[in-house]
Amino acid sequence: MEKGALLYEGKGKRVYRTEDPQSLILEFKDTATAFDGKKREELDAKGRINNRINAFLMEKLAAAGIPVHHRRMLSETESAVKALDMVPVEAVVRNVVAGSLARRLGMEEGTALERPVFEFFYKSDELGDPMVNQFHILAFGWASREEVDRMIELSFRVNDVLVPLFKAGGMQLVDYKLEFGRFEGGLVVGDEFTPDGCRLWDLSSGEKLDKDRFRRDLGDVLEGYREIGRRLGVEL
Ligand code: C5P
Repeated sequence: MEKGALLYEGKGKRVYRTEDPQSLILEFKDTATAFDGKKREELDAKGRINNRINAFLMEKLAAAGIPVHHRRMLSETESAVKALDMVPVEAVVRNVVAGSLARRLGMEEGTALERPVFEFFYKSDELGDPMVNQFHILAFGWASREEVDRMIELSFRVNDVLVPLFKAGGMQLVDYKLEFGRFEGGLVVGDEFTPDGCRLWDLSSGEKLDKDRFRRDLGDVLEGYREIGRRLGVEL
């Protein structure tokens, strides 16, 4: 697969066209950012680690019958994916109170939830990804009612697959963010599933292994990512 023109550069990834209009190349960067890019650092090997963890998890989701954009790993830091028509929202699933939910409702991080919570956010760097609900999505024509229902359904199916997978490695999947896009008439999980976009806590100690280490200066970030990979059995 030939790497073509740069289509988009995000904070953690570059997206390239290929000779196949149905395929793109994702390149995972070593850059770590937080707080809308205000905090930024180069973490040697983050791109490689995230590419591998992402491929491993996307393959697990695909094996469980969940449609994903991931096609295959191409190199240490690159993967081929399906070219999607992206829905401009982020879907967040939470199993435990943390992060913005803790702040928004004044709740203590780590508070158990009786059932998982689902939230939509509008993808906009300028606005800081504000929270929206399905009425906004329909009113602004970002997705159809069927697509809204499908995003919620697929997001919870991802939870059903990944919660036990992480638990087997002694980790609690606290929350995560997904993005969706259209491909050949259906919705597909896009973007990435890496420690940059989820929270993972050690089941017994509660130690944070994910990007919160970077956001909150909680210790060696890559050490946490490597530990996640090791516990999943991903060769890094
Ligand atoms: O910040 P908040 O608590 O809303 O984040 C919920 C989950 O979604 C976290 O796992 C976080 O890493 C992820 N997230 C993300 N990208 C964003 C916002 C949140 O990956 N733009």
